[in-house]
Amino acid sequence: MKMIKTLLASAVACTALAAPVVNAAPIEIKFAHVVAENTPKGKMAIRFEKLVEERLPGKVDVKVYPNSQLFGDNKVLEAMLLGDVQLAAPSLSKFQKYTKQLQVFDLPFLFEDMEAVERFQQSEVGQGLLKSVERKGLMGIGYIHNGMKQLSAYDPLKAPADAKGKKFRIQTSDILAAQFEQVGGIPLKKPFSEVFTLLQTKAVDGTENPWSNIYSKKFHEVQPYITESNHGLLDYMVVTSKEFWMGLPDDIRPVVEKSLKEAIAYGNEVAAEKTKADRQAIIDSGRSKVIAMTDAERQQWVEAMKPVWKQFEDEIGKDLIDAALAANQK
Ligand code: SIN
Repeated sequence: MKMIKTLLASAVACTALAAPVVNAAPIEIKFAHVVAENTPKGKMAIRFEKLVEERLPGKVDVKVYPNSQLFGDNKVLEAMLLGDVQLAAPSLSKFQKYTKQLQVFDLPFLFEDMEAVERFQQSEVGQGLLKSVERKGLMGIGYIHNGMKQLSAYDPLKAPADAKGKKFRIQTSDILAAQFEQVGGIPLKKPFSEVFTLLQTKAVDGTENPWSNIYSKKFHEVQPYITESNHGLLDYMVVTSKEFWMGLPDDIRPVVEKSLKEAIAYGNEVAAEKTKADRQAIIDSGRSKVIAMTDAERQQWVEAMKPVWKQFEDEIGKDLIDAALAANQK
């Protein structure tokens, strides 16, 4: 009897082993970000979801969480290392706990325009920076643009002296703090999800962001003046955890990577369009006065803020700053 039972048990086990795996659960990829869906990053994430699910039906399930729904800025990378989220694209200003090198992107008045940013990001040095977070268990997959930042405030900011004594909300970046301190401002590091309320309640006087963030989050409705300063960059690094990425099956990883790269290229097209369209929409709304700077006015801001380069040169590396600067040459 015992022998019959053993034979039956092994027959059942063999059948189970031989049976095809049906209904294997799809791999879940949670993509968390803090901006609205109608932004370069928001649209890029949705495009990625569509591409992957078309190419890997039933195998991969992408869930996009916009507007800080899942994690805010300061938590998302920690959550990624714990396996609670698989993809994010934080602003390059939010990586300073993971690498000092990416701080190069925060230096004020470093890049002349977005073409220079693109040249630097695609250069050997720029591509090397994607690896700068690997020591901490993260992997940079690519950059995605948002655009140049503009200064906004309750009062017009024409000359650097206009910023004196004013509180500015900034991202979690020591360089951005130093930049506002250079003009006598008081920087406050606060999450993106709190910016509208901080501005609306006048808990801060002003802030800095690219046109698409200002428009999509309605900052222009609570900031009567926007100075078209183009003084710094707000771009993103699409990032995942090394453990998750390397754990993806070999037939899945390349498809996910290809889809991400295509979605990034699309996001960059959206960024170029939105920079123009959202700037115009803000002007047309009449809610905020857009102040242009003359070359001489701009030069005053450059001179006031540029000492920050020297202040952070040792942390970032002079070679890196020089390589970024060289990208201004066509
Ligand atoms: C973002 O664009 O992801 C947020 C930028 C910010 O925190 O100002």
